[in-house]
This record gives sequence, structure tokens and C-alpha cells, in this order.
Amino acid sequence: MPEKEEPSRSFRERISSLWNSYPNWGKIPQFLDLLEKGLDKELFHDPEKDENRKPIPIEDLPVDEVLRQSGFLRNFYEWAFPVSHVFRITHRYSREYLDNFLPLSKEDYIGRGSYKFVYKLPWNQVVKIGKSKLPSDSLFGSLYKEVGRDMEKYLKKEEIALKNYLQKQTIFESKRDEIEFKFKRLGLERLHYWKLKSLIPDLVIPTRFFMGLKVRKTPLSPSVTLTPCDQQPLLPGKHLKEFTTRNEKVDQNAILNKFFPKWKLNFDTHRFGIISRSKLKKIAVDFNRVIEVTKFLAEEEKLIFDVHSENIIITLPDFELKIFDFHLFDDYLYEPSMENPNPEMDHINLIEEFIRSFELDK
Ligand SMILES: Nc1ncnc2c1ncn2[C@@H]1O[C@H](COP(=O)(O)OP(=O)(O)O)[C@@H](O)[C@H]1O
Ligand SMILES: [Mg+2]
Repeated sequence: MPEKEEPSRSFRERISSLWNSYPNWGKIPQFLDLLEKGLDKELFHDPEKDENRKPIPIEDLPVDEVLRQSGFLRNFYEWAFPVSHVFRITHRYSREYLDNFLPLSKEDYIGRGSYKFVYKLPWNQVVKIGKSKLPSDSLFGSLYKEVGRDMEKYLKKEEIALKNYLQKQTIFESKRDEIEFKFKRLGLERLHYWKLKSLIPDLVIPTRFFMGLKVRKTPLSPSVTLTPCDQQPLLPGKHLKEFTTRNEKVDQNAILNKFFPKWKLNFDTHRFGIISRSKLKKIAVDFNRVIEVTKFLAEEEKLIFDVHSENIIITLPDFELKIFDFHLFDDYLYEPSMENPNPEMDHINLIEEFIRSFELDK
């Protein structure tokens, strides 16, 4: 009956006119859209032009001899079964799909931390290959749980589709769990990056995270491993530590040495060319921003930003502060020390000691 239909129609009209008056409703960018925005452009490279572009000389790269060196067994393994390349793996045409071919070689290995092996690409970018880790590692704390609760937010549609596809291929529960873990770790890396990128966008270098397929040459058939990877510009520059006159480690207990290695700091401004006073001031200002962010994350989110002296680079020849490693840890995983009840203060004190050695007040 027309009389009865009238109210419902007008209700529907009201809703639709409300909807139309805000054309952006339903189009509010999601976490991933924001994160990926501009990344393809920023990390784009044209192979034709790369041929003519000068590679950054290896001497200009940050060096951490300790981190670069591996033990005898690892060296032997790398020699016998060298990494040959990495692909991005995603899901298209109802199956796995490989793109973003990244050629690698033993000579291009430039460093590693606790979580990644880093290789320089033939163009001026790096690819970081996730090391295999146990779920019990301290990296997988509260943010990892957050990713697990809402994977659609942190993984792209095709990544979720790939995860489901790969999980269906196996009959083993343990293999399915392993796949689940690797995809969650990918989401976690993105979330770490995002937290810092949104706070100090100009200091955090653009980084694209993806699920990778790492291929090693072996005498029989190539060995293939699924592992989260990321790609970012290669930074010519030096670790904070390399700018110091004395690279002496402060004596601490073994745990602190692993998580918060402390160095006696004395900034040598002339070590890699003369840094002007205005450049030094800019570095000091940026350091203070990093301190503010570290405090904010510790106080508001109970997260410790892993900002030790190997995770900050001062670029050459411009002398700019850049951050390229974005790991955040739950604060309760650190035992409070007598001198520092708040673990983030270890990092902050170190940076402050560093700024003091600039002697800007003289
Ligand atoms: N973009 C980059 N440019 C040049 N060197 C890099 C870059 N990213 C990492 N490295 C080198 O690789 C090392 C390990 O990388 P990092 O991202 O800190 O890995 P992890 O998360 O395992 O600590 C760094 O300390 C640095 O020497
Ligand atoms: Mg690191």
C-alpha cells in the first residue's frame, strides 16, 4: 500500500542524501592505503636509466664490522649455497604470482642486525631479508597480537589471499602455523614502520614491505624460502658510532650488551669531512625530535624504540640524520636497571651524550 511504503522510502532517501552530502564517506583511506601511498613512486627505478647512474661506492656505506662478519659455519654455508635472488610473491589469477625480481650476490651483502640480512641491489637500493625467528622472540609482543586480531588491516587483499592459498596447499598443521606466523610478521613490520613514519616522516626513509621468496643456488635444485622482506633506498653515510673518536664499548652485563650496547661517545665532526655548525644544529634538532618520539612511545604506548647507535645513519655528503630500522619492543620485556628504571632512558642518555659532544653551546 502506497501509504505504508512512504515512510520507509523517505527514510531511505534521507539516508542516501546524508550519504551523498559527504562524498568521502566510505572512501576514508585505510591504514594500508595511507602507508603505501607514494611508496611505489618513491622507490621506483628505471632499469634503462640505472645503467647510467653511478653506484654509491662501497666505502661510502655505513660499516659495522661486527655485524657484517659471520661465523665460520655461516660463511661456509653462504659460500656453498649462495643467495641468488629474491622475488616478491603475491596472489593473482587464483594462484601464487612472482614479480619484483631482485638479483643478489654474496658480494652485495652489506650487513645484518638481529632480524635481517641486508643486500645492496644493482641500483641504489637495499633489500632486507627477514631472518628466520621463533615466535618466542621478544619482537613478537603486544603489537604482534594487535596485528593478529585484525590482519585485514595490515595485510593487502592479495597477501591474505596468498596466505590462504599457501595454507590450503599443505596438509600439515605445523606448516600452516608457520605460514600464518610469517604473514603476521610482515604485518608487524609495517605497523612498526607506520608508527615511526607518522611521527617523524622526514627522518624515516621510505620502505616497502612485502612477502618475499628467497632463492639459493644448490647443486641439485634451487632452495626456496618464504620470508618477509623490505626494500628501501641505499644510504651513503655512517653509523652514529663511526663518527666517534673512540669506539670503546662500556662494560655492562651480557643482556644489556646485547640489547643496549653502550659506547663511549665523543663526536668527531671532522671524521668524514667538515660539518658546518648549521648542519650540526640541524642534527641536534633532529636528535631531539627522536628523543621526544622515544619518550612518547614509552610513556603513551609502553613501547621501546630500538634506536641504538647502529640504527641511525648520518648521511654523506649532506650530514643528515636518517632512521632505517624501525623495531619497537614492549617495555616489560626489559628488566629495569638500578641506574635506569625506564629502559628508553638508556637510548635517550646515549643520544644526549652525543649531542653534548657537539659542543654547540661553546
Ligand atoms: N638503507 C640502508 N643503507 C645502507 N646500509 C643499511 C641500510 N639498511 C641497513 N643497512 C646496514 O645493515 C645493517 C642491518 O640493518 P637493520 O635494518 O638495522 O637490520 P635489523 O633489523 O636486523 O637490525 C645496518 O646496521 C646497516 O649497517
Ligand atoms: Mg638494526
